[in-house]
Amino acid sequence: MTSTPRFKGKVTRRDFLGRLAIGAFIVSTISAFVSLFKVPLMRSYAEPSKVFKVGDPANFKIGEVANLEKYKISIFRTESGLYAVSSVCTHLGCLVKFSGSEFKCPCHGSIFDKNGNVKSGPAPRALEWYALSLDPVGQLVVNTNDVVPQGTFFNVG
Ligand code: FES
Repeated sequence: MTSTPRFKGKVTRRDFLGRLAIGAFIVSTISAFVSLFKVPLMRSYAEPSKVFKVGDPANFKIGEVANLEKYKISIFRTESGLYAVSSVCTHLGCLVKFSGSEFKCPCHGSIFDKNGNVKSGPAPRALEWYALSLDPVGQLVVNTNDVVPQGTFFNVG
């Protein structure tokens, strides 16, 4: 029986493959360990708040509309009260803009009335209305997690 002579400073094929397997095991174990901590952190940063303050309700005058592009909503004040309408088109999600007496979508031309009803497509349904409330110091709060039926006005007195 012959054996492969081992020379000092030389690595045999078997030694090389063994070290490669150990190295691959260590790298995969470390990356799996890091990913355990990484996934929960990414989720906590991914979702922006959907409840936000938009200021003193007195800033919204009867007959006026405020386009708050930052929050993707428009706030109206009428004799019946305040209401918040989504600026996200119900077709493919482009941002509509209120101008004159209607919302217009720049992407495919849908038009909505001031209540968010579809006047012309391709949008399949009306824009959403969101719940309004006051915080403890009287600031108007919009909750885009809470869709309310069209015609739900908020009265601040
Ligand atoms: S995204 Fe608004 S009409 Fe298509």
